[in-house]
Amino acid sequence: MLDSSMHRSPASLPLLCAAKLVDSEVEISWRGIAASDRFSPFWLRDHCHSSDSLNPDTLQRQVDTFAIPADIVPARLEIIGGGETLRIIWKHDGTTSILPAAFLWEIARHAGRDSAPRRRLWDRQSLGTDFPTVTHAEVMSGDEGLLRWLSLVEEYGFALVSGVPATLEATQELATRIAYVRATIFGGMWEFTANMAFKDTAYTSAAIGPHTDGTYSLDSPGYQLFHCLQFDGSGGESTLVDGFKVAQDIRKTDRIAFEVLSSVKVPARYLGDGVHLRAEHPVIGLDHQGDFRQIAYNNYDRAPFNLPSVRMNAFYRALTLFNRMINDPLNEITMRLAPGTALLFDNWRTLHGRRAYQGNRRLCGAYLNREDFDSRLRVLRVRQPG
Ligand SMILES: [Fe+2]
Repeated sequence: MLDSSMHRSPASLPLLCAAKLVDSEVEISWRGIAASDRFSPFWLRDHCHSSDSLNPDTLQRQVDTFAIPADIVPARLEIIGGGETLRIIWKHDGTTSILPAAFLWEIARHAGRDSAPRRRLWDRQSLGTDFPTVTHAEVMSGDEGLLRWLSLVEEYGFALVSGVPATLEATQELATRIAYVRATIFGGMWEFTANMAFKDTAYTSAAIGPHTDGTYSLDSPGYQLFHCLQFDGSGGESTLVDGFKVAQDIRKTDRIAFEVLSSVKVPARYLGDGVHLRAEHPVIGLDHQGDFRQIAYNNYDRAPFNLPSVRMNAFYRALTLFNRMINDPLNEITMRLAPGTALLFDNWRTLHGRRAYQGNRRLCGAYLNREDFDSRLRVLRVRQPG
């Protein structure tokens, strides 16, 4: 039994008008649209939406993919439900498959991949000083405020929350509006001052250049939340750089450097405190479509590696270019994190750093997994489309 509420065609999606077998493929046509789409019969049987093929509650596949005949062929193709459903009667056993028009439309347009996120790349000038901000009250009081916060982070790679009580507990509550806090070697919610509690440059008061965290992790933290709980002193401004904007500029201006930065896997390591973490990432990670996926750059944590000299020299040249661009003041924004204002940023896109400071500074924060943030955003968008 098909759960019709789950796949009802939204008014904006077209309806089916015809289906026929062409060159051993099922060709479907859409009402009011000239283009048609083709699917293999095997794929259609594998993606049947009847309840004995697809669990209507969990959307888990129940069909036995490997029992489908390799030469499966439809005996009859029908459009039913006023164009909302394709029904197929199979020749080999007379069974019936149903596939919603909305499902076929989405697959034909995006091949089952997530569509590209809505991103607005920025530099110092284009972003200005009016940083994306939401209030603590709106994030804590309802899903609408939370969706706005996460959407801004998706769009800009960071967003601030104002009016947060300056305590670790309130910051943790804010983080868990999104998802559980990631547990790492530094703990869950962390809090630090310049006391060298861990063997890491973040635990000093010296300047830290732009970098991403967790280059030594196979799954670098997707997002990071910062909240300065106390600051008595001078300096210490936080810096952010849109890594995707820098990557885009390099792609446009230096194809060779871009090829090197997006293909050479750079090993990184974390050694100390009884831990030896190690992972490899290209500086500019790309997805299957060549879109930006993940910036992974922390020159402090780069592990020794070597390549044939020509390639290694090309790598150093490209890395020098990347380092120069992320340190260019034109690409950087600065902000002083003050008690009451929390910063959430995309650690796979936005590089962060800190100016040197004098005085006492107490900062707390959390890592969040990328998949949990993405999950929250998807759920919120289904609840509140648009
Ligand atoms: Fe960091």
